[in-house]
Amino acid sequence: IQDVKKSWDDELQQLVHTLPKEEGWISGSLYLFQGFWCPAIVLKPVVSFQTHFQALDSDVMVATFPKCGTTWLKALTFSTLYRDRFARDEHPLFTSTPHQLVRFMEYDVYANNPCPDLENICVYKPRLFASHVPHASLPTSIKDSKCKIVYVCRNPMDMFVSLWLFSNKLRDENQESLSPDKVFDMFCRGICAFGPIFDHALEYWNASRENPDKVLFLKYEDLKEDINSQLKRLAMFLGVPFTEDEEKQGVVAEIAKVCSFDKLRELEVNKKGLHISGIPHKDFFRKGKVGDWSNYLTSSMVERLEELIHEKLDGSSLTF
Ligand code: A3P
Repeated sequence: IQDVKKSWDDELQQLVHTLPKEEGWISGSLYLFQGFWCPAIVLKPVVSFQTHFQALDSDVMVATFPKCGTTWLKALTFSTLYRDRFARDEHPLFTSTPHQLVRFMEYDVYANNPCPDLENICVYKPRLFASHVPHASLPTSIKDSKCKIVYVCRNPMDMFVSLWLFSNKLRDENQESLSPDKVFDMFCRGICAFGPIFDHALEYWNASRENPDKVLFLKYEDLKEDINSQLKRLAMFLGVPFTEDEEKQGVVAEIAKVCSFDKLRELEVNKKGLHISGIPHKDFFRKGKVGDWSNYLTSSMVERLEELIHEKLDGSSLTF
């Protein structure tokens, strides 16, 4: 096993040397791998995930682009899928963060282990995981099986502001703050973790159009506007629609409330401690608003991004 591990590490090292490289927003480098900018720290776990993960037909995967509402979608999917497993006042979200309950493949499950024990990792069944990996780079077994994928996208302007401020918070004290002009230019050129956002969203969008029973495409803004109807869509898609009785008993509203920004942010478990990736749990909660970009972007930034969105989405039915 040691020999296999060593030759695998050597192969990966050789691969890394061939990949285009850019400076990361927080620390480490970004490598252009299979058409997306992969943070150096997760390159090996992504390859392990791709190579070793065997999806089950019953699996559910939360797929997102960073800063598009991953934390929220993890909480919503977990609460909807497993709602009959725990009493209302003993919701696991009261004692564990959304990221501990629905673990990232690349930042967590495969971070230090190419063959993790997935059955033990998922306390509840069906198994529920999360990933930022683009659709084209998902393990083939996810695409070939009946494993369901729930995706959330967000307006790139809000997503950019969220990532920029998040990255600034996480940079070392001795590092300078990110210059907005510099990171905005990088973002527009697709150079950010798992970028470009346009390709990421479009791939999942197209997959959801081709196979709506397999990929559910949600938007952060729609969740904000009408969480109850989006939760019903989610439950229906997962094969666990809310019954009339549940609706009468307020189950949908209860899930929406438990997973709301205000509720999650105020929970002790989300205020202290670090995620396995080293990120403070509290940093996953900032403002949780739609349209906050207007407080940060200059008119020339807005113009450039609007043009880019127009150009990238031209010919597709996706709108941000
Ligand atoms: P802002 O920085 O705009 O506030 P991700 O979970 O993919 O990292 O995305 C983080 C963004 O989602 C942050 O956006 C964060 O505040 C927001 N967020 C986190 N939990 C949320 C929730 N329960 N409801 C709505 N937004 C949430």
